[in-house]
Amino acid sequence: MKSVLVIGIGAGDPDYMTVQAIRALNEADAFFVLDKGSDKEDLAALRRQICDRFVEGGQYRMVHATDPERVLRDGSYDADVKAWHEQRLDIYEGLIRDELADGEAGAFLVWGDPALYDSTLRILDQLAERMAERGTPSFGVQVIPGISSVQVLAARFGIALHGIGAPVRITTGRLLATGWPEDANDVVVMLDGTCSFTEVDPAGIDIYWGAYLGTPDEILISGDLAGCTAEIQQVRAAARERKGWMFDTYLLRRRAGA
Ligand SMILES: C[S@@+](CC[C@H](N)C(=O)[O-])C[C@H]1O[C@@H](n2cnc3c(N)ncnc32)[C@H](O)[C@@H]1O
Repeated sequence: MKSVLVIGIGAGDPDYMTVQAIRALNEADAFFVLDKGSDKEDLAALRRQICDRFVEGGQYRMVHATDPERVLRDGSYDADVKAWHEQRLDIYEGLIRDELADGEAGAFLVWGDPALYDSTLRILDQLAERMAERGTPSFGVQVIPGISSVQVLAARFGIALHGIGAPVRITTGRLLATGWPEDANDVVVMLDGTCSFTEVDPAGIDIYWGAYLGTPDEILISGDLAGCTAEIQQVRAAARERKGWMFDTYLLRRRAGA
């Protein structure tokens, strides 16, 4: 039987690789990399750096495939994402079918943690279903957790993500733009291409904003939301322009009594 290792590599710093992740790297016969275009070259470079550093003997097989562009048409967001996932499903199927011999293990190196805003596990699940329907031999999956950008954000600011015994909401910029989540005091926002914090009433809210966390380009800004908004927008736009891509995550916290 073939097997697939889904390895969380941490969100930025190669030192975030866990002992378990390093062990899994050394069990893999091939690494599958989906190239996302020149703006993500830095992320591909980090994956290579991790393999060079942690694969014993420095010899490894990296198999590249092109990640399809996500096309947002006039239709619904869900339908567009579903169509994009279908294309990725075909690619994953090809990689496992053509690049692994029986008994071999292929590894997907997943940024941060595979459980958080990453489609790898969902696609592998759908693929296993598709193969079962067709009666083709399936594959085993093992997941190795990684340090997510959310954990790095909290660590870099030295904060807990929630009040004592209280919940924390993790959401996307797109959803935040539709309104502050009900009953939430602490909201972590990821995948925000449009500074959705500008849509929030800033009264009584603090922001802890981190970009390129764990990398040499890391930027941290925190404080009263009203006072920080313009600075974050300006710094973010300049950094995006300079590097060609942006990864930022932030916590919005309602101050006690606000
Ligand atoms: C496709 S999701 C992947 C999340 C990843 N699985 C994780 O555990 O962090 C990409 C989003 O994660 C966040 N992100 C990932 N790495 C980051 C980093 N080093 N610094 C800041 N945000 C990051 C950003 O919100 C980005 O838009």
